Amino acid sequence: MPTTCVVGILWGDEGKGKVIDYLAAETDYVVRFGGGHNAGHTLVLPPEIAGEGKLVLHLVPSGIVHSHTVNVIGNGVVVDPIHLCQEIEKLQKRGISIELGRNMLVSERAHVILEAHQRQDQLAESGRNSKIGTTGRGIGPAYSDRCGRIGLRVGDLIRPDTLRQALTALAVQKNVLFEPAGMAPLDVDATFDQLVAAGEKLRPAIVDAGLVLRQARNAGKRILLEGAQGCLLDLEHGTYPFVTSSHATTGGAYSGTGMPPHEMLTVGIVKAYATRVGEGPFPTELFDETAEQLRAAGKEYGSTTGRPRRIGWFDTVAVRYSGGISGAHELVLTSLDVLQGFPLKLAVDYKLADGTLTKNLPAFDLDKVEPQFLEMPGFDENICDVRDFDALPQNAKNYVTAIEEHTGLRVGTISVGPGRDQLIKR
Ligand code: IMP
Repeated sequence: MPTTCVVGILWGDEGKGKVIDYLAAETDYVVRFGGGHNAGHTLVLPPEIAGEGKLVLHLVPSGIVHSHTVNVIGNGVVVDPIHLCQEIEKLQKRGISIELGRNMLVSERAHVILEAHQRQDQLAESGRNSKIGTTGRGIGPAYSDRCGRIGLRVGDLIRPDTLRQALTALAVQKNVLFEPAGMAPLDVDATFDQLVAAGEKLRPAIVDAGLVLRQARNAGKRILLEGAQGCLLDLEHGTYPFVTSSHATTGGAYSGTGMPPHEMLTVGIVKAYATRVGEGPFPTELFDETAEQLRAAGKEYGSTTGRPRRIGWFDTVAVRYSGGISGAHELVLTSLDVLQGFPLKLAVDYKLADGTLTKNLPAFDLDKVEPQFLEMPGFDENICDVRDFDALPQNAKNYVTAIEEHTGLRVGTISVGPGRDQLIKR
């Protein structure tokens, strides 16, 4: 199948960047379809490509280090143009070739995040009794303005007349919120100047990306759709209201790119244990020393906000649910190496408040379920250099097999370290 869609299976941070970088070697287009610079996709590259090796991408698609790929920010993404210009410049300074209009395109239909959206995000968080723990990047307010039909689109940045009009109208609405909170009003003139300057820089990249992608697909080009966040952060299918404001699962890949629904290979990325950043239910969460140890072993700190990630055991109920929602054909299991020396535990059922067992993820009261665990012996060997499934310790193999059995999903690839080549293909 010429189109592959990569989605996070739980709450993001599964290691999608590495998998996309790996798959991009055989791809013509890499396309972000949702989220914004709340995402943080980490690539660990050979020093000859990006100097220090580690590269964290927030808006620029993870195919950017492959010179043959065209990297597209689709219409479903919310774009902070100032951040995008800075991210591009930073990457260029590190020797990565980005030529706007050639290997980097931005949909003219993608909505714009303003500094005012970030302030609105922070204001909303401070006013909530039950906090979501957003990244504070203005994601929710920008998507709200899209739904409210008052948003600005990237194409407006190169249309000064419509931009000024839209910005002036938007300022009226924002200032109604800001003024009572004692916050500075949205400065239309200064914002206009910044946006026009960013628009001028980005101009060669601003295109009808949906048209480009439909033509590419018709010409048989290979397209890789890069999900951000994860299925359980999806606005509709996730752990609402503790979700992001975009469609993080496969459905968003169609609406967020302008490509028609068509058959594609969906690959779900899932970590060998579970993590979550921000608030919200997390049935298998650990609160003991094991959590501290796993956090340290897996370097589990948010790549966008630096927050310590919450840690828990692998949850087959949640993974099975996300597998169904996303239509994942197979899983890539990441960070298996991190479990070296730890006991292995998988949630295989949830006990509900009335005592019944279920394998289905409930839409309500997820914070009240009691996960029922299967415990398995761990492995003590370092597996970072293993490249062949059969060469894994027997207990690691048993764990992978149990994951397949309880999720109903095949584990096609296993990642055993952050490096590009640290993969086991089956
Ligand atoms: P927002 O996307 O900034 O509105 O945040 C909503 C929720 O999604 C919060 O719990 C964030 O921590 C979480 N979130 C957003 N983006 C990511 C991500 O890329 N990885 C993990 N969690 C994320």
